[in-house]
Amino acid sequence: MGAWSSLRGWIGGLGLSRRVIVTYPILATVALLGIIQLVPYGRQHSNPPVTGEPAWATPETRDLMVRACYGCHSNEVDWPWYSNIAPLSWVITNHVDEARDEVNYSEFGSGHQEADDTIETILDGSMPPASYTLFGLHPEANLSDEERAALVSGLRATPGLDEEEHEDEDEDEEHDDDD
Ligand code: HEC
Repeated sequence: MGAWSSLRGWIGGLGLSRRVIVTYPILATVALLGIIQLVPYGRQHSNPPVTGEPAWATPETRDLMVRACYGCHSNEVDWPWYSNIAPLSWVITNHVDEARDEVNYSEFGSGHQEADDTIETILDGSMPPASYTLFGLHPEANLSDEERAALVSGLRATPGLDEEEHEDEDEDEEHDDDD
């Protein structure tokens, strides 16, 4: 409170008009938002050809993966309208680039894939990222408990998505407790 009023006092002491303090920053922000629209990055909205997909155990498995994961980890990205507006376009393009780099279910079998972490990320809740469904966006990606369980069992029956062996770590921890 004290700091705030002394700040206001200091600003007042500068003798700046209300226009300078309120209007100019708003105009500057609007101008800046306009200028950054000219940056070419983030407007390509690429969807390269699909070269191979996992042999999904069931059509439902694929359907659930499309709903929860294909917005980033595929070459069938449904680019939303706001992905045309910087700086959102930069953030979204960057997410998709990074996600495809980790695992692209449309280029399955092309090496360089973290596909064997697929089940793990769903079980630990790290994928899809929380920000993806923030503000009611992408409600289709909010899987119910039943859908998530169906997805995991479908993925366990899909070749190439084997879970990593994490039981070893748990066992080690138990041994540590015994000591
Ligand atoms: C909003 C975009 C987005 C969605 C939707 C999304 N991911 Fe990701 N994913 C990313 C990004 C970005 C990375 C790389 C950075 C990181 O690891 O957080 C990543 C990394 C990964 C990785 C490799 C890294 C690791 O933790 O092992 C796997 C596996 C993965 N995602 C699986 C999935 C699955 C399965 C789904 C659907 C249930 C999904 N993702 C949905 C953006 C997304």
